[in-house]
Amino acid sequence: MKLRLKQILESALSDIRNASSKEALESARVRYLGKKGELTSILRGMGSLSAEERPAMGQIANEVRAAIEKALEEAAAAIERHAFDARMERETIDVTVPGKKPAPGKKHPLNIVLDELCDIFTGMGFSIAEGPEVELDYYNFEALNIPKNHPARDTQDTFYINDNIVLRTQTSPMQIRTMEKQKPPIRIIAPGRVFRSDAVDANHSPVFHQIEGLVVDKGVTMGDLKGTLEIFAKKLYGEDTRVRFRPHHFPFTEPSAEMDMMCFKCQGEGCRLCKGEGWIEILGCGMVHPRVLKTCGIDPDVYSGFAFGIGLERIVMRRYKIDDMRLLFENDARFLSQF
Ligand code: DAH
Repeated sequence: MKLRLKQILESALSDIRNASSKEALESARVRYLGKKGELTSILRGMGSLSAEERPAMGQIANEVRAAIEKALEEAAAAIERHAFDARMERETIDVTVPGKKPAPGKKHPLNIVLDELCDIFTGMGFSIAEGPEVELDYYNFEALNIPKNHPARDTQDTFYINDNIVLRTQTSPMQIRTMEKQKPPIRIIAPGRVFRSDAVDANHSPVFHQIEGLVVDKGVTMGDLKGTLEIFAKKLYGEDTRVRFRPHHFPFTEPSAEMDMMCFKCQGEGCRLCKGEGWIEILGCGMVHPRVLKTCGIDPDVYSGFAFGIGLERIVMRRYKIDDMRLLFENDARFLSQF
């Protein structure tokens, strides 16, 4: 029996040594220590030994059992360690490999120039107001002194949601919305998207952008209007920029004007860029009509104001020498990535 125990121990240790996985170890354990295992059956046979033999044999059998258990434990730990090392090896990260560069987006040229305009006006004490693109007929026309059937509506045909709701044709409704909820002094600009049912060509788009301006206070004069807009032109185009004001008509201002800047290419001589005029129109403006003030609950005998509307696309096109407005809206990344 002693010999048999020795053989079991040797064969068990050798099996354990050769087990290279958890599963192989487990089957070795079952083979020797399991219920039907080889060592177990020997221990069961101890009953047939004499009383003198039994304690010594028992002790040897227990030692064998302990040795096998210890070997199993050590082998299990070794297998685990190997698996861990292999995983570490597999998951090694080479931190010196160059990363994948994300392609950062760029500001759209319309936004580059818009941000610049906002900086210029906020620098002069204006704050920025925003309002809805889907607008009531009342704000877009009626309250701006453009009643139904007024001929001024012809040039601003738009998209109708219904008889009373339109896509705004101008940012001027922001004048009304601002004066309705804010008492003078008022000094705001309102940039935003506007809509007209114009066919698309190099100079027209049914969607474009304007920046509205409004100043209302006691004693505001045409001189303030001219000074403010002249400073704006100089900040945008340079100190030697020259501007002129030409009488015009807008229903919501009186008097009204358009501001032109001297063509920077020909210095007023007349060239292709300015279509022989020598001057280029940049905005519409005027003194807020007393009727518009009254509509908004502001007493025109106490307060006066001026307003202006700038078309953003034209300024952007001139700045970057873009000759087709469609390029600004097609969103071709090859075009936009240049700015
Ligand atoms: N809303 C006008 C347009 O779209 C532009 C304009 C002209 C705005 C004169 C003004 C203004 O505020 O005073 O044609």
